[in-house]
Amino acid sequence: MTLSPAFLDELRARVTLSSVIAPYVKLTRAGREWKACCPFHNEKTPSFTVNDEKHFYHCFGCSAHGDAFRFLTDSRGLPFMDAVKELAASAGMEVPAADPRGRERAERQATLHDVMAAAQRWFAEQLHTPEGAEALAYCQRRGIGGGAIQRFGIGFAPDRRQALRTALASHTDAKLIEGGLLIQVDDKEPYDRFRGRLMIPIRDARGRVIGFGGRILGAGEPKYLNSPETPLFDKGSSLYNLDRASPASRQAKRLIVVEGYMDVIGLDRGGIAEAVAPNGTALTERQLELLWRLDPSPILCLDGDAAGQKAGIRAATRALPLLGPERTLSFVTLPQGQDPDDLVNSGGRDAVEALLQAPEPLVDRLWRHERDSTPLATPEQRAGLKQRLLDHAAAIPDRSLSQLYRDEWMDRFHALNRRERPAFTPGGGSQQRRGTWVKGRGFVPPEPPASEGARAIAVSGVDPFTARALAAGLARFPDLVVEEAGILSALPFADPAAERLKHRLLDQALAGGNLDSAAVAPILADTEIDRLLQQALGGFGKGFSFNRIDTEPNQARADLRAVIELLGDRHEIAQGLAEVSARLMDDPQAVAEQHRLLLANQETTKRLADYSASD
Ligand code: UTP
Ligand code: MN
Repeated sequence: MTLSPAFLDELRARVTLSSVIAPYVKLTRAGREWKACCPFHNEKTPSFTVNDEKHFYHCFGCSAHGDAFRFLTDSRGLPFMDAVKELAASAGMEVPAADPRGRERAERQATLHDVMAAAQRWFAEQLHTPEGAEALAYCQRRGIGGGAIQRFGIGFAPDRRQALRTALASHTDAKLIEGGLLIQVDDKEPYDRFRGRLMIPIRDARGRVIGFGGRILGAGEPKYLNSPETPLFDKGSSLYNLDRASPASRQAKRLIVVEGYMDVIGLDRGGIAEAVAPNGTALTERQLELLWRLDPSPILCLDGDAAGQKAGIRAATRALPLLGPERTLSFVTLPQGQDPDDLVNSGGRDAVEALLQAPEPLVDRLWRHERDSTPLATPEQRAGLKQRLLDHAAAIPDRSLSQLYRDEWMDRFHALNRRERPAFTPGGGSQQRRGTWVKGRGFVPPEPPASEGARAIAVSGVDPFTARALAAGLARFPDLVVEEAGILSALPFADPAAERLKHRLLDQALAGGNLDSAAVAPILADTEIDRLLQQALGGFGKGFSFNRIDTEPNQARADLRAVIELLGDRHEIAQGLAEVSARLMDDPQAVAEQHRLLLANQETTKRLADYSASD
């Protein structure tokens, strides 16, 4: 349905923006505006302003900007139409129905929502009856306490064929069937779909129940019985826990995708609320879009087994045609046989956090997959690898990103290709550490997931904001590129333009060229880099100290050097963490080592913060 601009304008004018925002953010009056700590980035002093007269909000810290619709879509991940509906309801305006059928559907949905809500309430009550005692004990055995039962609205469906149907007799059979709660075969008596199961409600982005996953209490098939597709429940466009994960992900600045309901609930128990799960299916494009509304690089946290890894690759390939600078995926591979729920139970939050420290970027995950999927002993096999990589890069429509993927993969391919040639591989010695030759399979890398995890950090190294700031700093003090070339070349920038600038400067420096302003000017002439410098250069008291106009040049230079070195340290710590977390399960020393590294990481992060604006 398309809405007329006139309708949207009127709605925007009728709602008071501050009252839309107030439930989520603590607003204080500041003249004709309101001020608050920005909900879109982490800050301690308020730079988020709300202007009711002009109907927009603006954050001077992170440039978040928009109207009431934008606030609801961005802060809660609501689809635009849902934001419109919610605002219209609060303003007492009716959303014009595009055609009578649309209106009919909307009405039908409204009552279906009531039915689903009633079912959820009833299931929840049954958990606390004698019939539900076994299910309640099951929850306790799994560490799901009263708080979690409340938060997730967990309930129990009695093991009878007419239990729900009788309890919800005030609703018609037709409605209950439409909601997927009853099953009717031919003209026979309808009966309860969910029987003798722990009931996990699935909610939409607005927190309304749209379906259920019912877990069997003991052994049996299927383990989870899910709601069928209904007018409310479209498996491929919903994500379990999206409504709760969305505010949590703003806070945590990350979003985790796990495989199952229990993983979401388990992570929540470990204090990690920013997790969602697809409903037992491979991630769809629509689900990817929902994820990206909340986070530019959701972390797929998948089982180490073949099925989990296959799901990861599927998601990766599905994401390629949709990739952009702020739309990617990263990956964490769990220890074999452990899902996030198990991990929380055995190692608590720390065990999970350790893994999440070093998510593997998409570029690495696909590289590793393709490299390992066939032997590489012959030129033909290696040509096959090359072609698969080129095909993946070609699937990215964003041209500059596609080129960057291609360059990155081809560099690695050529390095590998050199190593792969049998003439260059003496057996034993130091080669042993790098991998081994297996007849018919060619060069087999040692394959500690850790080394790839470490490589992962290597690529995700410096976040885009910091990367742009560093690029701006280096453009101003290019001689530091020579001085810090060792660190800089090992420290990837997660911003394509900044990364490109860094490479051009490094190339120039490493080729022995000089880096005075005349030499740097043509490099900076690249328009994209120009724009990026504009963004990164701070005014008074904004951004990194070395980019502020109130920092004295010598000081700025020293600060830039210090920041590069701290980032280098942090990068090494992250590599150590990735390495140690892979050993966590079987090396008793690893936990202590991990603890030490986590502390070192905290310390470095704290010291880095000294150089950025106090917000
Ligand atoms: P898992 O088998 O990994 O379940 O399926 P789990 O989440 O670890 O559950 P527990 O810990 O054994 O209770 C992952 C997801 O796949 C879907 C569900 O969404 C489940 O959460 N699934 C699995 C089904 O839909 N049906 C099934 O029979 C099994
Ligand atoms: Mn599990």
